[in-house]
Amino acid sequence: MFDVLKLRKMFPIYENHPDLVYLDTGATSLKPQCVLDKMNEYYQEYGVNIHRGVYHLSYLATNAYDEARQKCADFLNASFEEIVFKRNVSEALNFIALTYGEEYLQEGDVVITSELEHHSSILPWMKLCERKKASLRYVKLDSEGRITIDNFKKALDSKVKIVALTYVSNVLGYITPIKEIINLSHKIGAKVIVDAAQAVAHFKVDVKDLDADFLAFSSHKMMGPTGIGVLYGKKEILKKIQPLEYGGDMNDEVCLDSVTIKEIPYCFETGTPAIAEAIGLGRAIDLINELGYDNIKSHCESLKKYALEKLKDIEGITLYNPHCDLPILAFNINNVHPHDAATIFDEANVCLRAGHHCAQLITKWLKVLGTLRATFYIYNDYHDVDRFVESVKECVAFFKQFEGDNYE
Ligand code: ALA
Repeated sequence: MFDVLKLRKMFPIYENHPDLVYLDTGATSLKPQCVLDKMNEYYQEYGVNIHRGVYHLSYLATNAYDEARQKCADFLNASFEEIVFKRNVSEALNFIALTYGEEYLQEGDVVITSELEHHSSILPWMKLCERKKASLRYVKLDSEGRITIDNFKKALDSKVKIVALTYVSNVLGYITPIKEIINLSHKIGAKVIVDAAQAVAHFKVDVKDLDADFLAFSSHKMMGPTGIGVLYGKKEILKKIQPLEYGGDMNDEVCLDSVTIKEIPYCFETGTPAIAEAIGLGRAIDLINELGYDNIKSHCESLKKYALEKLKDIEGITLYNPHCDLPILAFNINNVHPHDAATIFDEANVCLRAGHHCAQLITKWLKVLGTLRATFYIYNDYHDVDRFVESVKECVAFFKQFEGDNYE
């Protein structure tokens, strides 16, 4: 386990809220001082535009921005040109649907996705399929709500051209067997798009090892700033797709009726980018490397086990994913709307998410209106779990007194 009290000193939010129990990293992680400092350093010391100025400060900014892209490339085991900066995973996945999808999906083709997805990994494909008269096919989930290889094989046939799946469920914390899925998909010529939003904070994602065609993650879920995310695309595929947006910095020569565009990845990034945010993301990647995935993993695994052990003895709750792979726990206080329950947690300064978590299909699959969701990360400790469990018990007791009341 990390020395959490020491580690928390890196996260200034704890200075302002010493009593905080933050269990909503699934929505966004807390931000460490080193990331904020790195962004401030850009603004205060060389905060000018990139790729434009022919002066020293502009070279410094361009170098820092390029260095951040290289860090993202190394982080995923990709190459520099395969990293396209986007605002977040949603924008990245929409971009693929609107470029690669628009160009290559044909009438009658099939896109495979799942009910476990975040909306951003379904809706771009749903709308694309409508436009193209293609169809969206859902992999059947197993009894726990997992994507399995057996069920994936049943969904796969020669009509499938695109497979869009999450690497880690943001509600149930399951890890998808994505490497094998990619392998099977490639055998029939389908391309695979991986939503790695919940994965990169927890374990090494190696796009070469996975052989992913596209993969996206957001900086803000891995201790980086908001407003920036990464789209990885295989070089040979990126080279074949046309830009979605035209404008400043993505073009070479502009004539009266034609334009030549820059090489990948620059042709997909129009206008002044999120420079400070890219640099901040680079620092967050350094921090993850400094902490080490093995340590992050064992810390989070200990918290998960401890929390599951404690929850199992509490009557009056339903836990939907007792075998989750990552510390993302979805549960409800029986017969209580998750929004009502969340107010009790809030009174105890326990921050968790309540609702459908932008994944309504899995909420429907669970046959509930929504759930409470507690996600744990490196700045949480056993004490946080105890406070959380106490709040769960308080919540059960509080709502028990109204059992049988009729508000109609
Ligand atoms: N996608 C984020 C979540 O799962 C916002 O909460």
